[in-house]
Amino acid sequence: MQIKVKGISHIFDKGAITEFLALNKASMDVHQGEFICIIGPTGSGKTTFIEHLNALLRPSEGTVDFISLDLAKQFKKNIKRAKKGKEISEVAMTITSKKKKLKEVKLIRKHVGVVFQFAEYQLFEETIEKDIIFGPISMGVPKAKAKELAKKYLNLVGLEEEYLTKSPFSLSGGQKRRVALAGILAMEPDVLIFDEPTAGLDPQGEIEMYKIFHKLHENGKTIIIVTHNLDHVLEHSERTIVFNEGKIIRDDKTIDIMYDKKFLEDNLLEVPKIVDLVESLRKRNKNYGKPTNIKELVEKI
Ligand SMILES: Nc1ncnc2c1ncn2[C@@H]1O[C@H](COP(=O)(O)OP(=O)(O)O)[C@@H](O)[C@H]1O
Ligand SMILES: [Mg+2]
Repeated sequence: MQIKVKGISHIFDKGAITEFLALNKASMDVHQGEFICIIGPTGSGKTTFIEHLNALLRPSEGTVDFISLDLAKQFKKNIKRAKKGKEISEVAMTITSKKKKLKEVKLIRKHVGVVFQFAEYQLFEETIEKDIIFGPISMGVPKAKAKELAKKYLNLVGLEEEYLTKSPFSLSGGQKRRVALAGILAMEPDVLIFDEPTAGLDPQGEIEMYKIFHKLHENGKTIIIVTHNLDHVLEHSERTIVFNEGKIIRDDKTIDIMYDKKFLEDNLLEVPKIVDLVESLRKRNKNYGKPTNIKELVEKI
């Protein structure tokens, strides 16, 4: 699936005194299989932006195209076209300011999964299995198949099968978050978007979370992560999108942005620790290039 975002703006509370322009003509293309991080100060529109990538919000202006022949073939109007022997457009759906049918929106949400910040707060069923199968069942997956998916994805997020019959409330915070993630994975989306997925986790929990992201990425999923932790961004992503005041102010190779100290500081972003370290070594005439993590730096030294 490819997502083409063309000049989207989003105005909250239009016409009220609280009216606020949260997104201002943002454009970007996402290709299947990319690993992207989204950064920017608090309130810069990151969460609002990703809510447009699974049709949770509609733009006030601009469009979002979801391009996938596989997805396009599932829409009723295309099924009819195919029956008549007509060609089907690769653009499965375009989201504009106009309201869409819930059925269509649901199809998009099945293909683009968003794991919101503190997703564990959304667990509500009495067993972990029931929580994980909730999504697939509401998308029309038969119960037996949904149960298989629950097992598969609980395993992928690093929890044993025995957990299926336990209450989600018996788990630790980090485990709960992984169960919430398994619930999204069980819908088998092509694109996975995470909003501050490591907020509140300890360092070991952060490492485990990124291991899961890489496993998903190796399986061909598109990964988009919103985060404040630029050390994580540098270590894990290939491409970074920077938001400020509702605008995309930079869309570039991660390494080029993370080693642009002036740019980061000008935009109130915390320079990765490793970049600071490499910089101070450079001042002592020791040049180690642009390592992306401590291990790489140590190897160079
Ligand atoms: N539902 C809403 N109603 C009104 N204003 C909102 C709403 N959601 C977000 N905002 C405002 O839009 C701006 C961008 O918010 P958000 O996208 O959450 O930023 P970020 O995720 O980058 O911290 C903020 O100023 C926020 O207060
Ligand atoms: Mg946010």
